[in-house]
Formats: sequence, structure tokens, C-alpha cells
Amino acid sequence: MSNTTQHQEILHQLPQILIRVTADLNGVTAINDLEQIKAKYIGKSGEISLLMQYLKIVPAEEKKAFGEAINATKLQVQNALNEKKEYLLQQDLMQKLATEAIDVSLPGRGNSNGALHPISLSLERMLDIFKQLGFNIADGPEIETDYYNFLALNFPENHPARAMQDTFYTQGNNILRTHTSPIQVRFAEKNTPPIKVIAPGRVYRIDMDRTHSPMFHQLEGLWIDENISFANLKAIIIEFLKEFFANPDLKVRFRASFFPFTEPSAEVDIMDKNGNWLEVAGCGMVHPNVLQYMNIDSEKYSGFAFGIGIDRFTMLRYQINDLRLMFENDIDFLNQFKGSN
Ligand code: DAH
Repeated sequence: MSNTTQHQEILHQLPQILIRVTADLNGVTAINDLEQIKAKYIGKSGEISLLMQYLKIVPAEEKKAFGEAINATKLQVQNALNEKKEYLLQQDLMQKLATEAIDVSLPGRGNSNGALHPISLSLERMLDIFKQLGFNIADGPEIETDYYNFLALNFPENHPARAMQDTFYTQGNNILRTHTSPIQVRFAEKNTPPIKVIAPGRVYRIDMDRTHSPMFHQLEGLWIDENISFANLKAIIIEFLKEFFANPDLKVRFRASFFPFTEPSAEVDIMDKNGNWLEVAGCGMVHPNVLQYMNIDSEKYSGFAFGIGIDRFTMLRYQINDLRLMFENDIDFLNQFKGSN
């Protein structure tokens, strides 16, 4: 066989090869398998690529045409591969669209609104009632000094409430306030009577069980003016309790007690459905020593103060039996208060 015949023979094979390429491509169903076909025909040692080796036996005047014919065939294979790839991508997409179709007629999953925490609900209720009774709102820091938390409230130097087991100490000899009472002194220092404020806030004590949490909420009340008496104190407290528990017949009693910052002092009890007395607040007439720390003339002015536990009121109002529930942020627990007030 002469050289001429051999290289012409090769050129004649090209259409046959293309037929085999087409047949191979028809069998391909996955994009990844296209690589093998590419390698088989037009890769470095692919069938068509290797045909270039014959270039050396092609007469000079036909080399150009021979090379072009082979390159044109390679191009055709590449085009066929591209086309098939495009087709398979399209197929994939169609399949995805069919299986992952979104049924726009399905009802939505629904989105629910958040709700106020039961403690916020009670606090709002308390603020509303006290605002109607003419009280303003005061605020104070949660990190307190010994002076405001204890000394200016007439706590003797060795009072047990100062002991480490109750009070959280912070750096620099400050403390986390153990009650909201320090706001009384802070507010009275900066304002002159008549003073009529409530001060809600977080307070901290080293204590933790079913009815105690190391962080809890109190609301402090203070009314100082001329001629303020224990009768005013009773009237305000009783009115507040009846409003808060939405019970005009609520039974309330005042029991003599002791707080360093009030004299006389009392604890307030309310009667529950079963006839049991429950302690709900502490109160009393502001001690003259405290008035002095406030720079208020105790000859001219008198006042009363009270402190109530917001969390305890919340538990009573919503019949929650474990204080810790209120600080766990359990969605099922919180959902129960949606729409409450
Ligand atoms: N500060 C007291 C406490 O945390 C509560 C209290 C009692 C506040 C009597 C008062 C008051 O203002 O008069 O236990």
C-alpha cells in the first residue's frame, strides 16, 4: 500500500469514527460520563488525536488538508460533546423542576406574632395602675454602692443582709443591688418633695429554688410630702392590690414588721381563694434617718415607701407555681400568655 493510499484511507475513516462517537454519545445519560468519551476520541491519546501521527507520511502538499480534516473532525466531536452536555443539563433542570415543584396553592405555614413575657405583662399592669394613682417612674443602676444599697437606707454596719451569702459583690467593692430601695435615696437626693415615684427593676441575691431566683424583679414606691400618713399608705396599697388582682373584694391585712429604712414597718398579706394569707409586700413610713440621708427635713415632710416582688405578683396572677419557669424562655410556657393582659 503506497503512502498516499494509507493517508487517504485514514481520511475516509473519519466519518465512520464520527458515527461511533454519535453512538457512544447516545448511550450517555450522565454528564460525568462525557469525560470518558472525550478522552477516548479527542484526548491526548484519543483515537482521532493519534491520527495526527500519520502527518509525517503525508506528502508535503497534502499535509495542510490532512491536518485540517483531522482538526475539523475533532471540532465536530467537541461540538457533539458540548451539545450533549447542554442537553443533559437541561434534562437535569427539567427533572428538578418536576420533582421540586412548589405547590403555590398549599396553605402557608403561618407566622405567629411574638408575645410579651408574663413579667412584662404584670409590670405594665402595675405601671398603669400607679400612673393612675399619680406616680411617676424612676430608675437606678443595677450595680450599686454599699452606701445607696445599705448605709443610706439605715442598715446598721453589721446587718445580716450585708453578709456575703446574700449579696453579690462586683469588682471595686460595688455590689449588685439586692433591692430597688436604693432608688428611693438616689431620686430624693436629686428632687424635692412632693416626691411620688415608683421604680421597677432587676435585683440580685444569692438564692435559688422553686420560689427564689438569683435575679428577680421588684417595684419600689415612694411618696414624700407634707402630712403623709400611714392612712395614705394603706389606701394606696389596698387600691393597687384590688386593681391588680381585679378583685374589689380582695381581703388585705397589714402586719407589723421590721425594715431598717421604715418606722413603723409592715408586711402586707392578701387572702387567696382558699382563705390563706399570702405575703405580697413590705412597706412603712420612711425612717427619719433615711430622710436625713435624702436631705429632706423630717420636721416638715413625711412619707411612706413600699416594695413588691413583681415576679411573685406574676405567679399569683397567672397561677405559676415555679419561679424558675419564668426565666427559662420555654416557648410553650410563654405561648400561654399570648393575648393576656
Ligand atoms: N427592700 C425590701 C426588700 O427587698 C422591700 C421593701 C420593704 C421596700 C419595705 C420598701 C419598704 O420600700 O418600705 O425586701
